[in-house]
Amino acid sequence: MTQAALDIAFKDVYGRAPEGAWAAPGRVNLIGEHTDYNDGFVMPFALPHTTRAAVARRDDGRLRVHSADMDGGVVELRVADLEPGTASGWATYPAAVLWTLREAGHDIPGADIHYDSTVPVGGGLSSSAALQVVTALALTELHGLDLPRQDLALLCQRSENVYVGAPVGVMDQTASACCTSGHALHLDVRGLQQRQVPFDLAAEGLQLLVVDTRVKHAHADGAYAQLRSGCEASAAALGLPALRDVAYPQLDAALVALPEERMRRLTRHIVTENRRVERVLALLDAGRTREIGPVLTEGHVSLRDDFQISCPELDLVVDTALAGGALGARMTGGGFGGSAIVLVEEDRAAELGETIARALPQVRRFATTPGAGAHRLW
Ligand code: GLA
Repeated sequence: MTQAALDIAFKDVYGRAPEGAWAAPGRVNLIGEHTDYNDGFVMPFALPHTTRAAVARRDDGRLRVHSADMDGGVVELRVADLEPGTASGWATYPAAVLWTLREAGHDIPGADIHYDSTVPVGGGLSSSAALQVVTALALTELHGLDLPRQDLALLCQRSENVYVGAPVGVMDQTASACCTSGHALHLDVRGLQQRQVPFDLAAEGLQLLVVDTRVKHAHADGAYAQLRSGCEASAAALGLPALRDVAYPQLDAALVALPEERMRRLTRHIVTENRRVERVLALLDAGRTREIGPVLTEGHVSLRDDFQISCPELDLVVDTALAGGALGARMTGGGFGGSAIVLVEEDRAAELGETIARALPQVRRFATTPGAGAHRLW
């Protein structure tokens, strides 16, 4: 949809013109899964798919939100009534962001917002982070607040942790807020140091396919919290602040010291995954992009066997991709469904895409390159 169409849609819904429009992308994670809440390393990049928001301020203490992609019309909320656990459905996310901004001392009295989005919902591609980040960026910029992007991402994470009630890490919101076109973002979550890493697939004759399995297994939400607490318990059993503090050469000793098999599995994934992020970083820095393929595949095996968060559909996509000549493939995101990524030579990509679609006809697939982080459209 064009900019003018977004504008017209806002006018149709609210009967006046918006004051501006913003966009924030979804993401895929190249490598570094479940390492964010273990104080470790991640390397996501932004998708070209974005959630857009046309916005106008209100001064009467009301938040009204509407989405071109959701049924149910305009959701109207009284800002004074916002409270963790009160809203429901998709409007919880913008409500959570406004509540968190106000909690942080930013006096934002209300707004009218119309959204549209090309980020696939439910595909593990961070459509909710895109929704949060576009809301936070629009509301802060419209009210003359200039928040550093990492702070904006932390605020959105807090809104999800505290208001929505999901104990997620900060990767998705940071990717949406901070990524830049043509780059993957290397983030050291402990110190929040960022590095933009050039990731130019076309120049190397490569393609990265995103394959959305369109399945989400029912226990996904509760399982995430259990994984997080399992990792925290493992670090505590080792007397460490976080599993990040187990250096790779100390892994075997840590495994011997841990009292339970589940703790050993979780720890082995996190420690080897942090190392995989650093290996991918070193390969990209050295211009050896093709060689990241096997490291991505190792990441999948670790998520499947040690972290145990893959599923038959994701395994089928990965196995089919590898059998069909992919350089590497892995599930991406939180797990239990969602999407896989496949690194493949450009001249084999179309055929491989067909092969995957034959193996799992429901998939939605597209080739992608790193897009821009959140920005103002006009
Ligand atoms: C979800 C969470 C992130 C991260 C990933 C797994 O996307 O929102 O914080 O933990 O899962 O890497």
